[in-house]
Amino acid sequence: MEKFLELISREVSGAFEACGYDASYGKTGISNRPDLCEYQCNGAMAAKKKYQKAPILIAKEIVERLTGNPMFLSAEAVNPGFINLRVSGECLAGYLGVMAADENLSVEKASTPKTIIIDYGGANVAKPLHVGHLRSAIIGESVKRICRAAGHQVIGDVHLGDWGLQMGLIITEVRHREPDLPYFDESFDGEYPEEAPFTIAELEEIYPTASEKSKEDEAYKAEALEATARLQDGVRGYRALWQHILNVSIADLKRNYSSLNVEFDLWKKESDAQPYIADMAEYMKREGYAYQDQGALIVDVKEESDTKEVPPCMILKSDGAALYTTTDLATIIDRVKHYDPDEIIYVVDKRQEMHFTQVFRCARKTRLVKEDVELKFLGFGTMNGKDGKPFKTREGGVMRLERLIAEINEEMYKKIMENHEADPDEARQTAALVGLSTIKYGDLSNQASKDYVFDVDKFTSFEGNTGPYILYTIVRIKSILKKYCAAEGTVLPTAILAPANESEKALMLELAQFNSVMEQAFEELAPHRICSFIYELSNALNRFYHETKILSHEDEVQKAGWIALLNLTRRVLETCIDLLGFTAPERM
Ligand code: ARG
Repeated sequence: MEKFLELISREVSGAFEACGYDASYGKTGISNRPDLCEYQCNGAMAAKKKYQKAPILIAKEIVERLTGNPMFLSAEAVNPGFINLRVSGECLAGYLGVMAADENLSVEKASTPKTIIIDYGGANVAKPLHVGHLRSAIIGESVKRICRAAGHQVIGDVHLGDWGLQMGLIITEVRHREPDLPYFDESFDGEYPEEAPFTIAELEEIYPTASEKSKEDEAYKAEALEATARLQDGVRGYRALWQHILNVSIADLKRNYSSLNVEFDLWKKESDAQPYIADMAEYMKREGYAYQDQGALIVDVKEESDTKEVPPCMILKSDGAALYTTTDLATIIDRVKHYDPDEIIYVVDKRQEMHFTQVFRCARKTRLVKEDVELKFLGFGTMNGKDGKPFKTREGGVMRLERLIAEINEEMYKKIMENHEADPDEARQTAALVGLSTIKYGDLSNQASKDYVFDVDKFTSFEGNTGPYILYTIVRIKSILKKYCAAEGTVLPTAILAPANESEKALMLELAQFNSVMEQAFEELAPHRICSFIYELSNALNRFYHETKILSHEDEVQKAGWIALLNLTRRVLETCIDLLGFTAPERM
């Protein structure tokens, strides 16, 4: 449905036209002085030059034209030429009535749906999931849901890191510890054991140990590099060991991601690109895009307009091993082949921007993608602690995701038990839902590209711009709706009435923004737009609630109208938090 603001702009434009001015001057915006008016048009000032007329005179003509128009409660011309508008309650109620009757709440679906791949999560196997990967999962999941809600066909791919040096390091360390395992016996041609030679806990200790050793011990590092190259070459025992690492690790990752309410359609990995690499390198050489430089195969990707140096994109190292750029390019080939996407969005730490500049340019230059395919880098900033440095545990170690979630849930549990008497089991479940909102809203309410401070005290608060505050608002509405239905013995009414007071109107004006916020969130791939909207909406709802005796009101028709409005607010809020990737409990 037409956005509410467009509806108003169209009406004001009509007035400009009817008075002999260009319709484009009728563009109207939301007022930034809600004490003076709800909507404001500055077109009369803009028209001054063209029509050689004092703006206030133009504004007065427009206002006269609009007077009596059922869409407006008032229209005023204010010096030097502002047109200040208030919409009529009937018009607003009519708009929200249509919205309430629509299961999509007046959000339009794309008329030509695109196929969009979202590359997010990006965990590395055999490394514990830590907060560094948290943002990718949270932002990516939300962006995926926003794109889907806009009507597109969206495929989320976790794109696991399983092909780099970290694999060679793990293999090397396992070899040092247990050299007699059959994986290292080149003459072994039997079946390898089904059972992995390590648990997830051991695996998570093996990697950091190996990584440390390689920094101090050149020979060890050389071994790990060789093991990486041999794995990529397909040496049987190494592949079998790698498969164990994957199995153990993926089972653990799935558990972690699911506790975050993050779901991937594809569990593809860097290694899935391997089958394309040889042909890709061959093709790039044959077509003259790639050339040999000191043994390595590279493609130049710098451009004249570059203000900072963009190094060549390396396709193969001199030992023939694939790099991060190689697997990313080959993954594009895989994606084009299987899904023919119109767009690929990468949700990755913004420190990797240069890598993606190289990859995107190389993919275009070598024509791995058609010209109209969009490659987008959605880079996010760092999650810091209160000290302004990357978020750590209290002891200063790397914060594992599981621990962060457990700590937040514990905090929430305590708060819930302090607030009121609750059944401990139910309180645990509620704490998990509220805890998730704390983490996700705390992250998503910031513009993704910015660093932000993860402030546990602030984020877990039930007041202010936080996840728990939003949930609290939803729970409040749900409780009123339940009481209403129980007392009246009826189903929820749907008829939205014209507002009876100012705070009700303010709430209705917020609700009328919903479809335009959704459009903006999609266009900018910006979950924070949704967060600021639901914060304002929650504020408006709570103000209305405090100023209005709803359930004890004597007029049944009025009461039913308010209940319908509350229910619409609940639907909008719940739709929004679903797009952010969390849900509300029944009580809290
Ligand atoms: N595994 C990578 C990392 O931890 C992130 C992967 C991002 N996606 C990609 N296609 N490169 O840094």
